[in-house]
Amino acid sequence: MSNPSLLILAGDGIGPEVMGQVRRIIDWFGDKRDLKIDVSEDLVGGAAYDVHGTPLHDDTMAKAQEVDAVLLGAVGGPKYDVLDFSVKPERGLLRLRKEMDLYANLRPAQCFDALADFSSLKRDVVAGLDIMIVRELTSGIYFGEPRGIITEGNERVGINTQRYTESEIARVARSAFELARRRGNKVCSMEKANVMESGILWREVVQKVHDEEYPDVELSHMYADAGAMQLCRWPKQFDVIVTDNLFGDLLSDAAAMLTGSLGMLPSASLGAPMANGRPKAMYEPVHGSAPDIAGQNKANPIACILSFAMALRYSFDQGAEADRLEAAVAKVLEDGVRTADLLGEEGVEPVTTVGMGDAVLAALDASL
Ligand code: IPM
Ligand code: MG
Repeated sequence: MSNPSLLILAGDGIGPEVMGQVRRIIDWFGDKRDLKIDVSEDLVGGAAYDVHGTPLHDDTMAKAQEVDAVLLGAVGGPKYDVLDFSVKPERGLLRLRKEMDLYANLRPAQCFDALADFSSLKRDVVAGLDIMIVRELTSGIYFGEPRGIITEGNERVGINTQRYTESEIARVARSAFELARRRGNKVCSMEKANVMESGILWREVVQKVHDEEYPDVELSHMYADAGAMQLCRWPKQFDVIVTDNLFGDLLSDAAAMLTGSLGMLPSASLGAPMANGRPKAMYEPVHGSAPDIAGQNKANPIACILSFAMALRYSFDQGAEADRLEAAVAKVLEDGVRTADLLGEEGVEPVTTVGMGDAVLAALDASL
């Protein structure tokens, strides 16, 4: 069998520096676990714009369609704020999601015990938290037509359209139910069926998929605003949350912060299975490009490292090695190793991005 292939798109801001640590970890698995991955690299976001005048070159898009998985760092930065909307760095990311049809975005919010005190919520509310947000990623208001800024009379009007087909709702619901069966067997679906027709349809379709295909999974429905409130009040009531693109964007940031730092959270975006049976897949940290600390060797590489762990699990059938990497990260945190985003404890000196990479590699060595 040929080696699995991985396309790395480090992107902008802290993307390249956190990805540098992931490269070392990929090499470790090659050397120490004989897990060879064919890695290629290309540009995305502002980095691609600087070279090609577009945030995603067609050749890069084609490569992304060929490989077993894409690992993306981050896109965007103030330098690109002045660009036309159509070539903004974020468009590169959205094109990848859309053209690879990565409809199920898995965003785990897991609170490492060692970090429970970093949450803005009380320790007992977050300690041991392990929830998974499944966000629909290729439709809804992010892509719906009509969209644009038009002129009506003597003023301008901004328009976006929330639009979901039954099949788009059903397929992401299935992803959520499948995941739930491998976890706590509970799904909570969130929408605004009280004010939006698309929410009414969402609720109906999720219920139908449940009744016909997953009656063994516990299903509940919640309005998304109430869901946001419950996430802050008692997040441990949830196992899997399934929701649309925009609500998922908001709720996953909220859930992320429960865990103490955005710098910790990975994500997987999965599509339909390819000819080789593996799902189309892109992995990325939830944090953005953090331009304020870019290039300073300060950023926390853990979210990107854990994104690679998700690639091991969901694309490369290496669940045991994913466990090994996640355990190494947990060990490093238990040992009190902290990047600057995780400070607050008395007398702790922060390590650099590279220092955190060193610590994870040492923990991996110790795991052998
Ligand atoms: C995310 C980000 C993106 C989104 C941006 C960068 C386009 O916020 O992945 O959550 O809104 O989806
Ligand atoms: Mg977001």
